[in-house]
Amino acid sequence: MKPVKVGLLGLGTVGTGVVRIVEGHQEDLKSQVGSSIVIEKILVQNKSKQRALHIDADKLTEDPWDIIRDPEIDVVVEVMGGIADTKQYILEALSRGKHVVTANKDLMALHGPEIIAAARANECDVLYEASVAGGIPIIRTLIEGFSSDRITKIMGIVNGTTNYILTKMSKEGASYDDVLKEAQQLGYAEADPTSDVEGLDAARKMTILSTLGFRANVALEDVSVKGISSVSQEDIAYAKRLGYELKLLGIAERQDDYISVSVQPTMVKISHPIASVNGVFNAVYVHGEAVGETMFYGAGAGELPTATSIVSDLVAVVKNLKLGVNGKQGVTAYKEKKLKTDEQ
Ligand code: NAP
Ligand code: HSE
Repeated sequence: MKPVKVGLLGLGTVGTGVVRIVEGHQEDLKSQVGSSIVIEKILVQNKSKQRALHIDADKLTEDPWDIIRDPEIDVVVEVMGGIADTKQYILEALSRGKHVVTANKDLMALHGPEIIAAARANECDVLYEASVAGGIPIIRTLIEGFSSDRITKIMGIVNGTTNYILTKMSKEGASYDDVLKEAQQLGYAEADPTSDVEGLDAARKMTILSTLGFRANVALEDVSVKGISSVSQEDIAYAKRLGYELKLLGIAERQDDYISVSVQPTMVKISHPIASVNGVFNAVYVHGEAVGETMFYGAGAGELPTATSIVSDLVAVVKNLKLGVNGKQGVTAYKEKKLKTDEQ
């Protein structure tokens, strides 16, 4: 099979990791899919910016249409972030028969159904494993691993930045502002970290997880959200004295046909496994009627963990290409949800 050509939109924290893994694991990837994966072009905002790794200058472009309109590009990997322009690029890429891999939870939580429908209509894949919980393959697990079960609860820490902040405040007495700056320097936080600390990033991820887990059309506005910006050292110390850790938890539950989804700072008993999830790590607890309790743990943000999910999606696209099944997998229609509040 001829090399699969990739257009990468973005070369920041995640994009850099994607280049490192595709180049560093090339032989291993080729042995799995039978063809090489080549990053052909890379979109950046500023070509003359100093980069963490060497990239041939002729691969870089500041014009997204250079990639989207290039008939040689088979797969577009979107790791630039943003919503309106990015949506336009992705829809245009799909309409031209290109497969899409994205880490963009903002986009998928708001416009996922439209993008997935466009992908199906064009027999293209759109895969977004990296959009939730960084390196934990939780999306694939919900779609494929639990396809035989009825999931009743999804709960977890799905934002690495806030868990990093709360952990450092709890274990080291560090100040909120200092640790937030550290999380930004480490590449964990969003371009605008307000969405991390105010819980919106976690709410977007819970929208995606509950849609997939409950096979229902959950929307972002269905999620009640409170972040950690008003959590103080005193709150953390008080929780500790009572035998709890404060964690920003996403909780999605289904009772009969009714769903509730929320994100809020929560006191977690120290003996509970989620209480010992520290730093940038995420954990997602899933309860299914048949399987019972399961829990998934790993790095929730950062260059290589996130890029691992992206490149695994790339491998899935290439495997589907070989089988001729792109755009034909996954759930075709979700139920209309009933919210807990609809009961009244
Ligand atoms: P980042 O470090 O800020 O990198 C963004 C990249 O996109 C940069 O290379 C930037 O170019 C380029 N870019 C941004 N806007 C552009 C525009 N309008 N035109 C051309 N290029 C543009 O972001 P990141 O942390 O890698 O995150 C990227 C995406 O992955 C976001 O959707 C984020 O939510 C998601 N994500 C991030 C993580 C994480 O741990 N960081 C984990 C999971 C998902 P320049 O380099 O020239 O500035
Ligand atoms: N800002 C996000 C976080 C990146 O801290 O979890 C991973 O989605």
